Amino acid sequence: MKLTQSQIESFERDGYLFFPGLFRPDEVKVLQDEVPALYAQRRPENVRERTGDVVRTNFAAHLYSAPFARLARHPRMVEPVRQLIGEDLYMHQFKINGKQAFDGDVWQWHQDYGTWRNDDQMPEARAMNVAIFLDEVNEFNGPLMFIPGSHKLGVLDAGHDTSTTSYPLWVISDETIKKLVDRGGIVAPKGAPGSMLLFHSCLVHASSSNLSPWNRVSVYLSLCAVSNHIRRFKRPDYIAHRDFTPIQCLPDDCLLKEYEVALPWKDRFNEPLRQAS
Ligand code: SIN
Ligand code: MN
Repeated sequence: MKLTQSQIESFERDGYLFFPGLFRPDEVKVLQDEVPALYAQRRPENVRERTGDVVRTNFAAHLYSAPFARLARHPRMVEPVRQLIGEDLYMHQFKINGKQAFDGDVWQWHQDYGTWRNDDQMPEARAMNVAIFLDEVNEFNGPLMFIPGSHKLGVLDAGHDTSTTSYPLWVISDETIKKLVDRGGIVAPKGAPGSMLLFHSCLVHASSSNLSPWNRVSVYLSLCAVSNHIRRFKRPDYIAHRDFTPIQCLPDDCLLKEYEVALPWKDRFNEPLRQAS
């Protein structure tokens, strides 16, 4: 999939691109069907909400789940990112965010590159985020919000927040967000399962809690230029990957055909499922 000149210009101006319905329902189903078994596993890659046992985010499924390993090599996702970054890519981070009905907590205002620079010593903002909706995203279930154009400001001051949610994040102050929103506004792209968002690693974003009865499961993939790989290995390897091998794409039908993929972490940390009693 090749981006047009006008898509490239709109990415440069706004810091994101939206592709409604990019993956078909039969393709999305292969991924949706896999999520409950991943969330049921007792392994450190499942980070739970503050309130209890509900999964907030599952990390690195592409290393132990075949459907997600194939998604991580999907040309419809990888090629536009390679086109914008202009270099081979490796997977810096891979997560399946639950934002579960009633329990899904907020993601505070932040830039991902702020965290990658502070924690992982990623040299430059030559990495891109991709979000793929596995559930419909609507105005009620905590859609991702962007401040268009905010990526042009580079890395903004941020404070390390370890208390608001169960996941530590470098977050931007309310005062700065007010100024940014006064000039750029807020957008929240919404759409059917299978829609894809591609956004700059300096784009300021957040999402509110999900008080609706609808889950908002989305996959977030962060792809980084191989030469821009992280220099510090402070965070766990399931959060900030250390394998800088360039991603090799599979054919376009890879979600529907069982192409062979390596699953190096299949047995890592994988304890038996809890017995229902
Ligand atoms: C993120 O910013 O990494 C996640 C945001 C969300 O899931 O809403
Ligand atoms: Mn983020």
